[in-house]
Parts: sequence; structure tokens; C-alpha cells
Amino acid sequence: MQALDLLLNRSSYNKLICPAPEGEQLTQILKAGMRAPDHGNLSPWQFIVFKDKGLNDLGEIYAEAAEQDALSADKIEKAKNMPSRAPLVIAVIAKVQAEHKIPEIEQVIAAGCCVQAMQMAAVAQGFQGIWRTGAYAYHPHVKKQFKLAEQDLIVGYLYLGTAENEAPIKPEKDLSAHLQYW
Ligand SMILES: Cc1cc2nc3c(=O)[nH]c(=O)nc-3n(C[C@H](O)[C@H](O)[C@H](O)COP(=O)(O)O)c2cc1C
Repeated sequence: MQALDLLLNRSSYNKLICPAPEGEQLTQILKAGMRAPDHGNLSPWQFIVFKDKGLNDLGEIYAEAAEQDALSADKIEKAKNMPSRAPLVIAVIAKVQAEHKIPEIEQVIAAGCCVQAMQMAAVAQGFQGIWRTGAYAYHPHVKKQFKLAEQDLIVGYLYLGTAENEAPIKPEKDLSAHLQYW
């Protein structure tokens, strides 16, 4: 796939089935994440790959978080099943260095760039994916289970797999409404 085609037709896809990227394909995806632009060369990110039993474990963590929030049994069950919406999930964490000369927002943006790069590397290899956050990207119980520091942020869960059906290309957005030349 041509790089420009990939960028110009980029879209997300959420009906994800097996096979998931694995082996060298997964390594390429993770390496693309490592290429994110990085002010100060801090590499302010961490990736956690969940597959197989790992997805169940992540679901248990979500369910515990939902229980702590006293959600209904239905919602707890829903939380438990969330990670199983794809055969592979990569949590991307901004490992933020507080009071560093590189502003925290730049460290978080760098981690966000990892997600985008990894999603595109997956699509370039014939997979599909979607970047998700939701309540369990911000929940203290999840952060605790991931052993994150107070200032760290889960910038996203990248759900990856194979498209169940052919992924549609969405219409282009209106560039002119978002553009100025000076
Ligand atoms: C930081 C971030 C968090 C997101 N969280 C969610 C989410 O929790 N659930 C969801 O359905 N989409 C979420 N999205 C949006 C999808 O990734 C996707 O961009 C959206 O469905 C639009 O589709 P498109 O990428 O094909 O334009 C998030 C996007 C970003 C950048």
C-alpha cells in the first residue's frame, strides 16, 4: 500500500475478528509506534499488548472498576466484555515526566502519535483497527493495575484485528473549513 493512499483514505473500523497481527507483523506495528515524533528524545510512552488471556485479564480489571463505581450488573458485564471486541488490544500510556523542560502536553501528544502510527502500520499490513478510550482510560483502578504513576495517562486502547467485512472508505471532510493561508 502506498503511504499517501494510506493517509488520504485513513479510517477506523470496529468489527474486528481474527487473525490479529502477530509475530513480525506485530513487531512492525510496535516499531512504528517507537518512531513517533519525540521532543527531547524522552520516549514518553509504554505499550501493553493484550491478547488471549490478557484480554480476559483486562476485562476483569474493567469489571472491577465498574464494580467500584457501583454500576449495574449489566454494565459490569459489558465492561468485562469490552476488550474482547478485537483479538488484540494495545494500551498506549503516556509516561509523563512532570516538571520537565519538555511540557507535559508535548509528552502526551508524542504518545498519541504512537497510537496513530501503530494504527497505520496495522492497516498497511492488511489489518484494521480503532483507537478507543472511554471511562476505563481514565479510571484510577485501571491506572493502579497498570502500575502507573499519578501523572501518567492512558492515551488510548488500540483495538486491532482483521475487518469482518470490507472496510468502507468514508467521504472526505471539507478541507476548506479548516484551512487558512497567511
Ligand atoms: C483520543 C481518542 C479517543 C477515542 N475514543 C473513542 C472511543 O472510546 N470510542 C469510539 O468509538 N471511538 C473513539 N475514538 C474515535 C475513533 O478512533 C474514530 O476516530 C472515530 O470512530 C471516527 O472514525 P474515523 O477514524 O474512521 O474517522 C477516539 C479517538 C481519539 C483520537
